Amino acid sequence: MTTPANDLFARQATVGEIAAALPGATAVFRRFGMDFCCKGNVALEDSARQRGVDVADVERALLALDGAIDGEGAPTATPALIDHIVACYHEIHRSELPELVRLARQVEKVHAGKAGVPSGLAALLERMRLELDQHMCKEELILFPAMKLQAANLVLDAPIACMRHEHDDHGAHLRELDKLTGGITLPTGACRTWQALYAGLAKLNEDLMQHIHLENNVLFPRFSA
Ligand SMILES: [Fe+2]
Ligand SMILES: [Fe+2]
Repeated sequence: MTTPANDLFARQATVGEIAAALPGATAVFRRFGMDFCCKGNVALEDSARQRGVDVADVERALLALDGAIDGEGAPTATPALIDHIVACYHEIHRSELPELVRLARQVEKVHAGKAGVPSGLAALLERMRLELDQHMCKEELILFPAMKLQAANLVLDAPIACMRHEHDDHGAHLRELDKLTGGITLPTGACRTWQALYAGLAKLNEDLMQHIHLENNVLFPRFSA
């Protein structure tokens, strides 16, 4: 379900719609620092302006994607898409977040008082771990099974609104994480643990953005009135 970039520009598609319809667009938006998941409901031009980037540069990068293969390709059919989200995002968050909490605790303890130490990062990651786990359980136990039934005209507006609201909270946590770590930037001479922690944080950031994008912009609209 690929839509040519020019068609999307012509009908003034939002950033979220472009991310959903044009394979590879998410990587372009990430490169320009544009939020395509929680704040995906804005026009391309507005999103670019908010980030202080030239919309023409973004459009050129998106046009270059036409015909390109999306390495992040997710299945199209609803049950397969749900399985993909659970396997590639829910399970990955569950396996990686506890390790990030451990690494953050270590860095904060060993380097306490040094410049650039992300004080409070372990607590933030632990909060994210708990809130994400509760959120993903709700999706896995209630929302996703209902979606998999694929009943005709099934509308799930209320639970979807709740999940979208929680996605906004996850987005706020990512912004907090970005602030605490100076944009996930290592100080010079950072130790191996610190390096591993920040590499893991960059991956968490990418994974969580992509996860929310697939739900907000691809899966949920199929069940909204
Ligand atoms: Fe999810
Ligand atoms: Fe979700």
